[in-house]
Formats: sequence, structure tokens, C-alpha cells
Amino acid sequence: MNRLSIGYAALLAAMMITGGVTTVSAEEELAPTVFKTEDGALLAAKGSEKDEGKWMTPDGDPSYKIEAGRKTDWFTYSGFRRYHSECHVCHGPEGVGSTYAPALTTTLKTMSYSDFVGVIASGQKNVWRQSNSIMPALGDNKNVMCYIDDIYIYLKARSDGALPRGRPSRNEEKPQTARDFENSCLEG
Ligand code: HEC
Repeated sequence: MNRLSIGYAALLAAMMITGGVTTVSAEEELAPTVFKTEDGALLAAKGSEKDEGKWMTPDGDPSYKIEAGRKTDWFTYSGFRRYHSECHVCHGPEGVGSTYAPALTTTLKTMSYSDFVGVIASGQKNVWRQSNSIMPALGDNKNVMCYIDDIYIYLKARSDGALPRGRPSRNEEKPQTARDFENSCLEG
């Protein structure tokens, strides 16, 4: 073996050994779309605005605002809690993935909001793994569907590298609009 091929083999071995670690550090990298406000808070995109208590990107996707010390808007905080009651058993803590379900922090680097909602409502089979890999359809589960934006917002903040690992601390009370939506969604 010449030096080059030894180096290459070592690199391959290192990639195999540290596969998980590499993914995590990539997550903490800030996505190029993330916008830093004058007071140092992070928004998913430039021009994001708060609409009826919820941050929205100019494209109309539900979104987050993260300040120093993991201080977040209501929805990011709520999404953290909902994710950890409905999804983490399969997808791992904080969206990092597990041996039997994909890392959603990676998924959301490319998956759109509407595709995300579609997969959760209708399920998905054998796309991530080729056999015996089933994401259940959760469209009838109100504890999921009434909080789907919250879960998306939280995972997107993690995926964008805007929210460090750990429990977020909420920066604001639950908006009245969220209260009203929740009541009608859970009853309807
Ligand atoms: C019972 C285990 C289980 C639960 C609970 C679960 N998932 Fe999944 N999910 C999976 C598996 C397995 C896959 C991969 C399916 C495949 O191979 O196509 C998946 C796939 C997905 C995908 C597509 C990812 C990709 O990269 O293709 C999304 C998005 C997703 N899940 C979101 C969620 C969310 C959000 C929740 C909680 C509301 C949730 N899942 C709860 C097992 C689960």
C-alpha cells in the first residue's frame, strides 16, 4: 500500500466509526437560509414575520425565533414537548434518529413543510429503508395533527442549527390564537 491508499483506508474507517458524530456536528452548522436579527436572534429566513402569534417565513412556512440561551417562541417550545411525547420513541431524542427510524433533523434539510405534513398524516413505507420500515399514518391522531406546526417548527429549528440541543426555555406565553386553534382542533 502506498501512503495515499493507507490514508484513504484510514479515512473510510474513521467515517464508518464516527458516522453518528459527523451527522451531529453537521446539524449544529447554521443553514445558509438562517437570518440573524440586529439583537442576535435567529429566524429561519430573512423577512420572516409574526402572524397571529406564529412566526412565518416569506414562503408561508411556519417558523421559529430563537434567542440566546435556547429562549424560543411559544411554538418551538411546544413542538419540543409534543415531539418528545409522540415521535421520539422511534426517531430518537431531539430528532437525532435511531437504528429503526431516520434522523428528522437531516430529513428537514430537504423535505418541504407540505411533504412533512403529508408523510405524518398518511405514513410512509420502505423509502428510508428498503424493507420492514414503516412510518405509521397519524392523520387521525389529534395529539399529533393539532400540533403538527409546533413539531415541524421545533424540528426545523434543530435541523437549521438554530436551536442547540437541550430543553428550550419559552420566551413567551401561549398566544390566544394557539389556544383557540387547539380548542377547535381537539373538539372538531
Ligand atoms: C412507530 C415508530 C414511529 C413513530 C411513532 C413515528 N415515526 Fe416517523 N418514521 C418511522 C419510520 C420507521 C420511518 C421510515 C419509513 C421509511 O423507511 O420510509 C419514518 C419516517 C418519517 C418521516 C420521513 C423521513 C424521511 O427522511 O423519509 C417523517 C417526516 C417522520 N417519520 C416524522 C415523524 C413524526 C413528526 C412523528 C411524530 C409525530 C413520527 N414520525 C412518529 C417510524 C415512526
